[in-house]
Amino acid sequence: MRSRREAAQSGSTSNWNRHHILSLADFTPGEYNTVLQTATSLQEVLSGKMKKVPTLQGQLVTNLFFEPSTRTRSSFELAAKRLSADILNFAAATSSMTKGETILDTAKTYLAMGTDIMVIRHKEAGVPQAIAAEMDRLGVRVGILNAGDGQHEHPSQALLDLFTICNLIDPGQPCIELLQGKKIAIVGDILHSRVARSNIWSLTASGAEVHLAAPPTLLPKWFEDFVKQPESHPTAGLSRHLQIHWQLEPALRNADFVMTLRLQKERMTAHLIPSLREYHQQFGITRSRLQLCQPDVKVLHPGPVNRGVEISSDLMDDPQFSLIQSQVTSGIAVRMALLYLIGRGQGD
Ligand code: NCD
Repeated sequence: MRSRREAAQSGSTSNWNRHHILSLADFTPGEYNTVLQTATSLQEVLSGKMKKVPTLQGQLVTNLFFEPSTRTRSSFELAAKRLSADILNFAAATSSMTKGETILDTAKTYLAMGTDIMVIRHKEAGVPQAIAAEMDRLGVRVGILNAGDGQHEHPSQALLDLFTICNLIDPGQPCIELLQGKKIAIVGDILHSRVARSNIWSLTASGAEVHLAAPPTLLPKWFEDFVKQPESHPTAGLSRHLQIHWQLEPALRNADFVMTLRLQKERMTAHLIPSLREYHQQFGITRSRLQLCQPDVKVLHPGPVNRGVEISSDLMDDPQFSLIQSQVTSGIAVRMALLYLIGRGQGD
């Protein structure tokens, strides 16, 4: 295990070369620590009186959300404002896309207005990657942040989850090494979840033992091999621990953290569970089920929540166990960190 000093050095912003954040599959431990340390500094700004820094003054951040969102869109908007950037919010339903404009043409329209960073959410996997490739082809320095693409990835959510957990273990000095050997259960609709996929990359990279639990229809066996990468891959050297369970109990036993996921009914093309009631009986996270876990276990959920389905309503609101509100709060500092890291050096 690396020392805290090595972890701190690996997290220096001078090691950051990424211009887009599209996926966590190739994130290195040093990059995770850079995000955690930058978010820690920015959280200090947010807890001060001014709550704002001039870092991205004059830069334009455009939120391109082709799919509904409450917290991610607002969180990126607030993060951009706290960094003094200008922000444009695009909503597909009221845009020229209803007149047949393509996604790339929409992106190029915002490029022509001087956008420096585009934050993109789309229901199809690969859209942020396609826009990033087009920006690179055009030779323009626009940073692309994936804010959720289909069932593929949701990097900023996993990074804020990582920050929330590490910051709880060691407030003020979070680094991924703190998760070494911790048991983390991810429970729910894993098949449809981009949040689960991004979290699997970040949590296994930190040395945590990640246990997935869901009925087989929501957790295909191939998830066992999810983190296997070719030898040539930049993070192939990390030993990642991932186990799947079709029952809840083995995943919860002695868990330090439990991450619950929404049942994504809008993405289900078939009836994958008998009923919501039965799902709650078998996989719902409740106070009594948490007794299997470590006594100081904490529960996370990316939101939005189906109260009483994936998690019992009373547990969700219990600050002794629930980190749901701190996830939302942490999201602002983490998204400020991401905008800062990919926006640095742009503008004047
Ligand atoms: C998630 C998303 O949209 O992927 N929510 C979020 O961004 N906080 C999860 C979900 O929709 O269930």
